Amino acid sequence: MGGTITVNYAMGEEILRRADGYAAEADRHCGTLRARDLPYTGWVEYASRLTDGELAEIKALAEVIRRKCTVFAVIGIGGSYLGAKAAADFIDGGRGSKREKDAPRLVFAGFNLSGSYHERLIEEIRDEEICICHISKSGGTAEPSIAFLALKRLLTEKYGEAEAGRRIYAVTDAENGVLRAEVREKGYKSLVIPADVGGRYSVLTPVGLLPMAVAGIDIGQVIEGAKASSAPALMRAAKRLACVRRSIQEEGKTVEVIGAFEPFAAAFTDWILQLYGESEGKDGKGMLPVGVGLSRDLHSLGQFFQEGNQVFCETLIDIANPPGDIVVGADGGFYAGKRMSSLNAAVRAGMIEAHRSVGVPIVTVGVTDASAHCFGMSVCFFEMVCAVTGLLMGVNPFDQPGVEAYKKEMMRVLRRES
Ligand code: PA5
Repeated sequence: MGGTITVNYAMGEEILRRADGYAAEADRHCGTLRARDLPYTGWVEYASRLTDGELAEIKALAEVIRRKCTVFAVIGIGGSYLGAKAAADFIDGGRGSKREKDAPRLVFAGFNLSGSYHERLIEEIRDEEICICHISKSGGTAEPSIAFLALKRLLTEKYGEAEAGRRIYAVTDAENGVLRAEVREKGYKSLVIPADVGGRYSVLTPVGLLPMAVAGIDIGQVIEGAKASSAPALMRAAKRLACVRRSIQEEGKTVEVIGAFEPFAAAFTDWILQLYGESEGKDGKGMLPVGVGLSRDLHSLGQFFQEGNQVFCETLIDIANPPGDIVVGADGGFYAGKRMSSLNAAVRAGMIEAHRSVGVPIVTVGVTDASAHCFGMSVCFFEMVCAVTGLLMGVNPFDQPGVEAYKKEMMRVLRRES
């Protein structure tokens, strides 16, 4: 097992030259992060500090869950949901091929307040053997708390209170929050989110590792990939990308279009959108990260990209060896005999040429494959890119004061109505 990440830049020399000017500062920030001299940097090289015993504890709990259920409902939002969803979809292309056929199916809840979504989910899983896991660092976030109540009710109706309690799991803070208090009161099995790791940087802690292990993903390989991300070449690549992103902002670009050419990487793109958006979008700064699915969106937004307002740059995620392929049949005319993956590569090359010709700065992040190893490596790579970019911009990449505003307003609306 191995794999690596390579980054290619298709953009004007001036952007790259200006990026060189940030190199020394990026080195300093990277050093500060690796020394964990800032609050909420517990995610930095977390994989290297994770002990065999801690990994074994997660695997053992996953094994118990796997024996009990056919459906594992993961309840969480933002950083407590997107990483597990990204991993489940991305690793091995989300297919059972390399995983055991009888692994429980992961379903996700609590990332919206849609009654329709949750009613339908409950109907869909009602006759399955179910376990649920509430993942929340604060333990009090509205969306997952409401979904937790609904799914707990389903379990209690189906199994009775005692057995329901044995099918409920939690991943939360060690000490604080209403979820931890409920765990203590009801005796649910639980794992801990490290206090010094913020939500969107938590995918390689029990937040993401438990759902991955339940789904049959080799979390040992995920962790090995994460450790490999601190190799000097990858650290250099991450710092360089941070410098280039900083320089692109100085060019006046206010939007970063991010996308992959594989649908199995769509949730991984969503995870990056949160990581970049919530870490960098503050103090009136940052580029708005916008997700696209490729080549699909070349047939809609492609017009804008080619001829519209040039406020954006592009970051493309390219998985070099996707886990499946098809050869076009003999009746395919010009395309006959070609692998679909080579057509996908051609569309990517065509997009880069066409957009570059009108001055769009384009970054391509190439990942060897969709293995567990490459997933772990990619997560750490983008986390480092994001944190260093934020520090180069002069913002705190680890807080999110802005997300409180809508919550306050929502509570005002609810109080007015009651
Ligand atoms: O990155 C973050 O901190 C947020 O996206 C949180 O993960 C999200 O708001 C969920 O919070 P919690 O885990 O406390 O329920």
